[in-house]
Amino acid sequence: MSNERSNTVKFAFGESIPLELHKVRVVQKLFLHPVEHRLKAMRAAGFNTFQLSTTDVFLDMLTDSGTNAMSDNQVSAMLRADDAYAGSQSFARMQAAVQEVFGTEYVIPVHQGRAAENIISRAFIKQGDAIPMNYHFTTTKAHMELNGGKLFELYTDEALKIKSDCPFKGNIDVDKLQALIKRYTPAHIPFIRLEASTNLIGGQPFSIENMRQVRRIADEHGIMVVLDASLIGENAYFVKQREKEFLNTSIKDILLTMCDLADLIYFSSRKVSSTRGGAICTKRKDLFLQVRDLVVLFEGFVTYGGMSVREIEALAVGMYETTDETVISQSPSFIAHLAHKLDARGIPVVLPPGALGCHIDCMGFLPHVPQTQYPAGALAAALFIASGARGMERGTISSVRDDQGNDVLSDVELLRLAFPRRVFTLSQTEYVLDRVTWLYQNRDIVGGLKFVDEPSVLRFFMGRLDALGDWPEKLVAKFRADFGDSL
Ligand code: F0G
Repeated sequence: MSNERSNTVKFAFGESIPLELHKVRVVQKLFLHPVEHRLKAMRAAGFNTFQLSTTDVFLDMLTDSGTNAMSDNQVSAMLRADDAYAGSQSFARMQAAVQEVFGTEYVIPVHQGRAAENIISRAFIKQGDAIPMNYHFTTTKAHMELNGGKLFELYTDEALKIKSDCPFKGNIDVDKLQALIKRYTPAHIPFIRLEASTNLIGGQPFSIENMRQVRRIADEHGIMVVLDASLIGENAYFVKQREKEFLNTSIKDILLTMCDLADLIYFSSRKVSSTRGGAICTKRKDLFLQVRDLVVLFEGFVTYGGMSVREIEALAVGMYETTDETVISQSPSFIAHLAHKLDARGIPVVLPPGALGCHIDCMGFLPHVPQTQYPAGALAAALFIASGARGMERGTISSVRDDQGNDVLSDVELLRLAFPRRVFTLSQTEYVLDRVTWLYQNRDIVGGLKFVDEPSVLRFFMGRLDALGDWPEKLVAKFRADFGDSL
């Protein structure tokens, strides 16, 4: 029996589909505006999907961060929240949940994932230190560099191949790791960072075998292992699907195995537990004490860390739900459905499908748009105009300029279409499939972008761009010609 997708069922006549193993009980009205309105909104947003208002967006596929659907149990837990500055019962419930699911004795809430990155960077990184990792995340890099660290992405040769059959593209290349430790010496390597379901290369997992190798090397040299667990549920799900040793292991045990291999774990609970907030956790008292005082300084008292107690209650419930395979397989199964269908139509997508979102390869989609004209940003804008679905640019716009002011071209130019857990239906997924296909057939129309207002830090959030030429208007005209008065 193939257990490729745990909430996927076979139809009598061949096809398999991901099934929604939940029912919808609270809904939010959506608007699908005409294509002319969508173009106007995109122009007003400076061709940056972060700048759109959700009143103009039909399917919000920007991110899963803080947008996963919550369960009835999470929402009801929020009502019993215990508002206390110190010693809140809500914190005790969160602590118990994290202790049970991650097996870490010490837990400190922080207001979100990047707050944990700020604290960890300040606590452990010295000027000139090297930090090896499988791949960076935008906020991780910003905080670590701010504290004088230099990042080294030690991914394997498969990691950046768009179409691959490597099940674990998020693995660290252990030979490269050994070489880096030799070059920098352990004294200048505060920790090795592993990111679960490596976000920026398409939500790609690492294997436990790889994590064990990293742990062994870390132990040989007395270096810490830090795990970014923001997408750990999905990574555990892929381990169960793809790593032979764990085919019959429960998600709960896989999570405990992964967490046991790390010294320090942090996460954005905007992702892992479908809430808001974040946390730092560890089984080591010495590490806990090193971060504790910084949390008090930057986040808040250690029993709330900048989080609302209502979110802390929902986090506790969400933590237990992370061990439920039907919860953590929901997003990957819809992503796989869309990615395989796009691939079958010849449209370049990241394979194998990963966590978080379906990732379209924009250099393959728009080969005529050079990286200096931001193909991933251009495709994000074009898809919004064509469909009202907003994705996120994960390419050169999400990168930074070098000291000379030149763009540092991103390794990959991806358009991420996020699937927050239990938010979208299959008909909405089919709609996106259709509009991406139409765009692919009309890809020659789409041109590049240029910055008109460019912040120096994390420019992708607030930057404003403009289209090079009148390709957006041409796209709207072609849409009208092909779809008549359809939205
Ligand atoms: N680490 C990873 C792997 C992330 O994906 C994120 C956020 C963070 C850290 C930072 O957490 O947003 O709570 O401060 N990822 C979001 C995304 C923003 O859209 O992928 P945060």
